[in-house]
Amino acid sequence: MNGKSSQPPPDRTGGSTGVPGNEDAVADPHLPVPAEPIDNPGLPVHQPRPTDVDDAAAKRAERQIAAMFGLSAVCALLFCVAYFVFSIGEETDTFMGLGASNLALGVTLGLALLLIGIGAIQWARKLMSDHEIVEMRHPVVSPDSDRTEALTALNQGFDDSGIARRPLIRNSLLGAAGMLGLPAVVVLADLGPLPGTALERTVWRKGMRIVNDVSGTPIRVEEVEIGQLINAEPAVFFATDDEGEPVIEGPELQAAKAKAAVIVVRIDPAEITPLPARENWGVDGILCYSKICTHVGCPISLYEQQTHHVLCPCHQSTFDLADNAKVLFGPAARPLPQLPISLDAEGYLVADSDFREPVGPSFPERGDR
Ligand code: FES
Repeated sequence: MNGKSSQPPPDRTGGSTGVPGNEDAVADPHLPVPAEPIDNPGLPVHQPRPTDVDDAAAKRAERQIAAMFGLSAVCALLFCVAYFVFSIGEETDTFMGLGASNLALGVTLGLALLLIGIGAIQWARKLMSDHEIVEMRHPVVSPDSDRTEALTALNQGFDDSGIARRPLIRNSLLGAAGMLGLPAVVVLADLGPLPGTALERTVWRKGMRIVNDVSGTPIRVEEVEIGQLINAEPAVFFATDDEGEPVIEGPELQAAKAKAAVIVVRIDPAEITPLPARENWGVDGILCYSKICTHVGCPISLYEQQTHHVLCPCHQSTFDLADNAKVLFGPAARPLPQLPISLDAEGYLVADSDFREPVGPSFPERGDR
C-alpha cells in the first residue's frame, strides 16, 4: 500500500507504553486487556478510476479543468468590464429587485471563485492520486522519524498532484488566481473622487417643513407635548412631482436621509440654556437636532424625558438636549448639530436654513467647521 506507515499498532498486551520519555513504564498486568470491539477490516482494495487507466480520459479531464480555470479568468475580466459599464443605482430592478451593477458584479465575481473551486475539486477527484494512506495514532510530540515521514508524504502529495507534470493545469490555475487580483485592484477606483462639499450640506432649506418620519405629516407646535421626542425628516422626502413620482428616490433618497434625519423635542423653555446667538433657534421650547450620532453615525433616539438626555445605542454617547446637545458621556467628540427652526404661515414647523455645520461623524476635510 502506497505511503502506508511502518509504525506498529499500540501494544495491548501489557508491554511498554511506547510514550517517548516513558519507555520504562509498564502497564499494570492485573488490569484487564481491552479487546478490540470490532476487528480491523483493513483498507478496501483500491479501485482505479477511469482516468487512472485511460490516458485519453485523463487528458479530457485535464482539458475540462483547465477550461474551468480559463472561464474563471474570463469572469474576472467581465467583472472589471461590468464595473465600468454599469453605474451604481442604474436600472435598480433588473432582476428580482437587484440593480444591473450589483447583479453583474456579483454574478461575475461569484462565478470566477466558483469555477476555480470546482476546477480544484475535479482535479483532486480525477487526476490527483487517490491512494488511501494509513497513519497510526501516536504521541502528540512526533519523533524525528515521523517528521521525516510527514515531509516525505508531503512531497509525495506534491508529486501525486501532478502539478509539475501537468503544466496546462498549473499555468491555467496560476492565470485564474492572478486574474482574481484584478477586480480587487479595479475597485480601488472607488476610493475617489473626494466628496467635496457633499458631506457639509443636507437637503434642508429655509421654509422646508419638518414632518413625521413615518407618516410624513407636518408638525404643529400644539401637537408636541413637553417631554415628547419625534423622529422627523424634511418634507421633500415625501414630495411627488406632477406625475406622482417621488421627487427623491432610490440610493439618492437613502444618502439624503442618512444626513437629514432629525429629532424634534419639546422642553420646558425655563430649562433650556441656548448658546449665544441661538436663542431664536427653537419655537416655544421645541428644538430640532440631527439624529445622526457624531461618533460614527448611528441614529440616536433613546430619550430620557426627566433629564433631557438622549443616548446613542451603539456606544452610549449621551447628549444633553437642553444644553445644546452637549456631550455628557461616551466617545462622541462633538455635540449634535442643531437645526434652526421657526413656523410657516400655517403654523407648521419649518427649517430656517440648512444645518450650520456638517452632521454626523468627523471626516478628514471637516476641519473646524
Ligand atoms: Fe453613537 Fe458610537 S455611534 S456612540
